[in-house]
Amino acid sequence: MNRRQFIAKSCAACLGTATVSAMVSSCASTRYTSGTMGKDGLTISMDEFKIKKQGQMAYHPFIIVRNESLQYPIYVYRFGETEYSALWMRCAHQGAELQAAGDQLHCPAHGSEFSNTGKVTNGPADKDLRSFPVTVNNNELFIDLRKP
Ligand code: FES
Repeated sequence: MNRRQFIAKSCAACLGTATVSAMVSSCASTRYTSGTMGKDGLTISMDEFKIKKQGQMAYHPFIIVRNESLQYPIYVYRFGETEYSALWMRCAHQGAELQAAGDQLHCPAHGSEFSNTGKVTNGPADKDLRSFPVTVNNNELFIDLRKP
């Protein structure tokens, strides 16, 4: 799949489903946060995922953590209240910074694609993304960056 096909597929997914309002919202506004860097990792508030709209609560499917002490951003995907993935947005092929589109990550350099769990779904990359353990504590997520 080339870049044009990927974008067309991503936008079609946003516009053509029953959950149009939630998906358009997520496509239109990717949520960024810097989190709080500690000795062993990053802490982010779970409130970062919340979307309050007309009295109803919805959730961003993912947020991107950009912190000045990180060389690449971290994509944090919310599977549910207590289940998250945290992925290093560095392509496993030659190290380009990845782009997030819903539940996929795409490499603008040579077209590799990865799932929201970091698995390669399209080459030329032949390795999965680096992922970090995520722990839920009260209303915060701790992303453990100690793992090499
Ligand atoms: S650097 Fe990502 S596919 Fe080559």
